Amino acid sequence: MYEYVETPVFEETELFARGIGQSTDVVQKEMFTFEDKAGRSLTLRPEGTAPICRAYVEHGMHKRAQPVKLWYWGPFFRHEAPQAGRFRQFSQVGAEVLGTDEPSADAELIVLLSQLLEGCREVSVRISSLGNPRTRSAYRDELRDWLGAREGELSEPVRARLDLNPLRAFDSDDAGTQAVMAEAPKLIDRLDDEDAEHFAAVRSLLDDAGLAYEVDPGLVRGLDYYTRTVFEFESGVLGAQAALGGGGRYDGLVELLGGSPTPGVGWAAGIERILLAQPEPVEGPPRGVFVAVAKPERREEAFGVANDLRAAGVAAELEHTTRSLKGQLKQADRLGVRHTVILGDAFELKDMETGEQREVDGVQEVLREVA
Ligand code: HAM
Repeated sequence: MYEYVETPVFEETELFARGIGQSTDVVQKEMFTFEDKAGRSLTLRPEGTAPICRAYVEHGMHKRAQPVKLWYWGPFFRHEAPQAGRFRQFSQVGAEVLGTDEPSADAELIVLLSQLLEGCREVSVRISSLGNPRTRSAYRDELRDWLGAREGELSEPVRARLDLNPLRAFDSDDAGTQAVMAEAPKLIDRLDDEDAEHFAAVRSLLDDAGLAYEVDPGLVRGLDYYTRTVFEFESGVLGAQAALGGGGRYDGLVELLGGSPTPGVGWAAGIERILLAQPEPVEGPPRGVFVAVAKPERREEAFGVANDLRAAGVAAELEHTTRSLKGQLKQADRLGVRHTVILGDAFELKDMETGEQREVDGVQEVLREVA
């Protein structure tokens, strides 16, 4: 059972700078940061995991029965170049499990996200393991040296960040860099025994659940807090911004934010991208009634007719301007309603599809007709 939680839309900048990591694009370039009247630096939340861990510590959630399972949704903000599927304000739905490092928690979350994305087109999932900070740091040195010897073949942005974060080279879309990275040593081959076992256990549970996935040793997530399992769901119909959702384990984050050592794992998915990846919407049949007024003195009556229709559960639209009857029928067409009531010399009902127009008794007959 996941419990719903809401965290504030902005937090102290320090929370994100520490939690997400100084070397990430999110912290270096994408935060909407401002000062409040007291001179404190605040930031519109670019993601939800650091705030959830902050709340876990601040509200003593470690005292509850573990694990604590939380879910959230709401607006998030990143100062990125807007393009199809990438917005400066977007919506995420997310789930986090704190207080267990069991592989079953990782697998449960991955299966949960795959179920959430079931209706989306062309979904695939990649997974990997980033091990622990010790092995990662040794690997980072190894990769930096390895890439340093091939610097001439790398793109300029990758070279510029070689010292800070050589792993991001796996994310590059430059063909030369990609060719180098295909040959590069992989972190997944450098995991210690415990982390390798953990990853094998997660995979085995996913296999049992019948979930198809690809192990991608080059999977790099854009946030620094990850340890062990990482994963990303993509849709083949989204173009350049293909990621529907992703996440992973962050066993050091609660401690980094001042709590006692507490493992955690979770994901977030982009709601706008989920909508973009839905099958083309099938248009339903036209429905609803437009109430047109051909005689100004019947305006008040029209208001009552629309109210009566709505009270009976029919979507009714009233003429609120002083258009001619022709203009009103055009508006009814634009709205795509199935029928129009015309209050003129008589009480008439027009079928917008067939064009048939006839006199009716009143609202009751309209209701029988549109039922
Ligand atoms: P993330 O991969 O940075 O992870 O974001 C999750 C999802 O949010 C992306 O897969 C994407 O669908 C959506 N998203 C991100 N940026 C944008 C944008 N500018 N416009 C539209 N959609 C966007 C996280 O945020 C982590 N907090 C996930 C997590 C939870 N890891 C552990 N627990």
